[in-house]
Amino acid sequence: MTDASPHDAQRPTLDHLIGELTALEMLAEGWDEAAQGGARARAEAVDALNREAFRRLIRALKDQPGFGAALKEAARDEVVYAVLRRHGILRPSLYERVEAALDSVRPGLASHGGDAEVVSVTGNRAEIRFLGACDGCPASQLTFYAGVKKAIQDQVPEVTEVKQAKGLGGGGSDTVQFTSPFANYAETEWITALPLSDLAEGETRFVEIANHSVILTRFAEKVSCFRNACAHMALEMTQGEIRDTILTCPHHGFRYALDSGECLTAPEVQLQPHAVRVKGANIEVRLIA
Ligand code: FES
Repeated sequence: MTDASPHDAQRPTLDHLIGELTALEMLAEGWDEAAQGGARARAEAVDALNREAFRRLIRALKDQPGFGAALKEAARDEVVYAVLRRHGILRPSLYERVEAALDSVRPGLASHGGDAEVVSVTGNRAEIRFLGACDGCPASQLTFYAGVKKAIQDQVPEVTEVKQAKGLGGGGSDTVQFTSPFANYAETEWITALPLSDLAEGETRFVEIANHSVILTRFAEKVSCFRNACAHMALEMTQGEIRDTILTCPHHGFRYALDSGECLTAPEVQLQPHAVRVKGANIEVRLIA
């Protein structure tokens, strides 16, 4: 990649350029049919002219020493890549083809409240992570092999190894990466509790949410939320001792497994769970009365 120059900051980004095109297209939506047809025909003619020019340019240069490497370097620029892809000069990358294969099964995953994302595509190996209701679902293994893996291997035969990744993922701001199994049955609103980055793997935090004291834990890439109330006398356990995954109530010593909420002292009781999910960069909680 070439070093950034002072002019780079002044260059329009791909998003900016596409935004301008989209604005023009929206403007044209108000035109009558004939005017829209004329604009479409002109755009197609300009596209055809550019495509032919690119093809001739590539044909003229392709035998020059170092041309392949130079083109590859140039295509690392998002604008160059987008335009060359649009005109069929560059083929879609393996990553894009795996993404397209996932797109073909997304409606099925969405019907179960889930989604999936490409974690990596390296050589002949792709790693996929389930998101939302699919993550941690007992049927996800079946879904993975029956749907996702088959779609990828059918549509991208170069990828011979498809693995299911574990963990909370790193989706965009609206992506739900993880939802506790009973969350759909709760009726209250989701409340943002913490940024996920504020709760490290293996950590437990006592947090106040909408005047409710809760215990948030993150173990084995799973976030849990419990009411901060001991099952013995409902007293708060904020001052309790935590060792590994075990919380000991500071009042009379009841012990709890924080990865499950199970009470180790009196197995017939447990911590009361609240619904929890990881959405974008945040942990959200639904308080269950
Ligand atoms: S209130 Fe926790 S052990 Fe008694």
